[in-house]
Amino acid sequence: SQRKEIDDTLATFALSPTQLQEVKAKMRVELERGLKKDTHPTASVKMLPTYVYRTPDGTERGKYLALDLGGTNFRVLVVKIRTGMRNSVRMYNKIYAIPLEIMQGTGEELFDHIVQCISDFLDYMGMKNTRLPLGFTFSFPCNQTGIDKGDLVSWTKGFKATDCEGYDVVDMLREAIKRRNEFDLDIVAIVNDTVGTMMTCAYEDPKCQIGLIAGTGSNVCYMEEMKNIELVEGDEGQMCVNTEWGGFGENDNIEDIRTRYDREVDGGSLNPGKQRFEKMTSGMYLGEIVRQILIDLTKRGLLFRGRITERLKTKGIFETKFLSQIERYSSHLCLGLDSTCDDSIIVKEVCGAVSRRAAQLCGAGMAAVVDKIRENRGLDHLEITVGVDGTLYKLHPHFSTILKDTVRELAPNCKVDFILSEDGSGKGAALITAVIDKYLYAMR
Ligand code: BG6
Ligand code: GLC
Repeated sequence: SQRKEIDDTLATFALSPTQLQEVKAKMRVELERGLKKDTHPTASVKMLPTYVYRTPDGTERGKYLALDLGGTNFRVLVVKIRTGMRNSVRMYNKIYAIPLEIMQGTGEELFDHIVQCISDFLDYMGMKNTRLPLGFTFSFPCNQTGIDKGDLVSWTKGFKATDCEGYDVVDMLREAIKRRNEFDLDIVAIVNDTVGTMMTCAYEDPKCQIGLIAGTGSNVCYMEEMKNIELVEGDEGQMCVNTEWGGFGENDNIEDIRTRYDREVDGGSLNPGKQRFEKMTSGMYLGEIVRQILIDLTKRGLLFRGRITERLKTKGIFETKFLSQIERYSSHLCLGLDSTCDDSIIVKEVCGAVSRRAAQLCGAGMAAVVDKIRENRGLDHLEITVGVDGTLYKLHPHFSTILKDTVRELAPNCKVDFILSEDGSGKGAALITAVIDKYLYAMR
């Protein structure tokens, strides 16, 4: 029957407890492979050193500029941090648009645009002549050799500007500032959004040693033991590692759980074959998976009276927002699709299956990370906090609950708390900048 056909389709998105255990185990293997010198070059999870050695301790202070590029919004911020009491951070920020043709134009155009936005912001704040230290949240994989040096490994998500991959992002920004020849800035740190989020949350809760983004993209960072990070000299203390777990699966090791819809979404993306885990777990792609399923069900005459509308054919039509809204309010779907009441129920089921799998996969990955940290420290039981940000986590009605349940089931020896980052990762970038600033000052 029609019902059975729909159920069978959605069943390919249901993961059994055994399958989730397998995902956790495979993620663990990839985390280790990324950390080891000989396996790092071929690892799907890159485990990038960040040169952030500790979380904030409350002694940070000063006035900083921050940039935040790579999520839904591009922001320029001023962050003022006072010592004495915690929570004494003031922020002023402005959101700027990055038009598609700039995201996917030339690198020079992209960085000129960024500097143009900084210029506008400095005018707006009346700060053109104050040369402030700047922390740059840049939410893409970077090969870092220092806190202020990072070669872009590859663009992910919706970016594809030319002549950037393989080049130092800080240099590109400095050159664009020079080209404009209007103001000067000290670029002190380049920071992944996961790291910024971890730092923002750790400022409030010292137990926070993991940062998670479930937004446009999907990624995690955490505090790793220096002795395990073979790419960096030294065995003492810890360093934050940007896992770039979105790349998990690039070595074909999760093909058993990918569906034909996942392959279609991958094929139509800007980076086919890459970021396979991200494409099953993050906001930029979940709506596309849903759309592929709806197209297929319609073609098979199981939905929308078999009629594929122009809307359904439009790439990117279902943003994370829509997915969340559909699951929150079932009755009236403002999809503009030619739908009946039964159709609405089916659409909601499809969204539920796709987002549930995404949350479970993130949970399985997180279980691998917390168990690794627990074993690093030789503990039977670990208590740890994850700082989280991202539109998927924040807007979706069930994502966070399913994620937490999965972590509890798959990592029973860890008590994992999740706290939401309220201020974005720009604040974290400023905190990192403050730590370095203090250090540089002490060296003078
Ligand atoms: C924000 C950060 O808080 O979270 C961004 O400041 C980050 O840099 C973002 O990328 C993730 O969320 P989204 O959903 O906007 O990608
Ligand atoms: C993508 C990026 C990663 C970032 C994540 C969340 O996976 O490669 O650097 O942290 O998106 O924004």
